[in-house]
Amino acid sequence: MKNIDIISEDNETKMADNDFIISKTDAKGVITYCNEIFMTIAGYEEKELVGKNHNVIRHPDVPKFAFKLAWDSIRNGKEFFGFVKNLKKDGGYYWVFANITADYSEHGKIIGYTSVRRKPTQSALDFIIPVYQKMIALEKEGGISLSGKYLLDFLEENNSTYNGLILSLQGE
Ligand SMILES: Cc1cc2nc3c(=O)[nH]c(=O)nc-3n(C[C@H](O)[C@H](O)[C@H](O)COP(=O)(O)O)c2cc1C
Repeated sequence: MKNIDIISEDNETKMADNDFIISKTDAKGVITYCNEIFMTIAGYEEKELVGKNHNVIRHPDVPKFAFKLAWDSIRNGKEFFGFVKNLKKDGGYYWVFANITADYSEHGKIIGYTSVRRKPTQSALDFIIPVYQKMIALEKEGGISLSGKYLLDFLEENNSTYNGLILSLQGE
């Protein structure tokens, strides 16, 4: 019998060049809207996504520190960019190049978030996959303080910022 890892490795869905996956959440990350492409690629119906925490499609191959960076940014009103592997309902996966921004009330309070994802470049994935693997191994060893240090040291050595690295990997 195949184990889950093998099934998952066999079962990648690639975004098309012109696809945009869009979702919106409330301030806590509970999904309030998702577009048709999201449902088609992730394999869920609208009623299975709306009202659920966005971690419903969380894939274990993405390090915890990546989500910490995302939330630290967006809670402070800064847009986030990142490469994210997502879990499909059927156990398969798809990679995205994600952007998340905050949505504001008329009084300037953050009331939710919007994420738009596009197809990531293959060269970005070739770079990021081993980095995420290393970060996950470090998280198993010593939590996000180790994986965070690894990433921040890497950025310092390469004289780069997180957003600078991610945008240059995507070629933007
Ligand atoms: C607008 C928005 C979109 C998000 N999109 C995703 C996503 O596509 N995949 C994902 O794993 N997490 C996404 N997240 C992050 C999740 O809220 C969550 O932090 C992440 O899945 C890690 O979950 P966990 O801490 O329960 O493991 C998104 C968050 C927001 C606010």
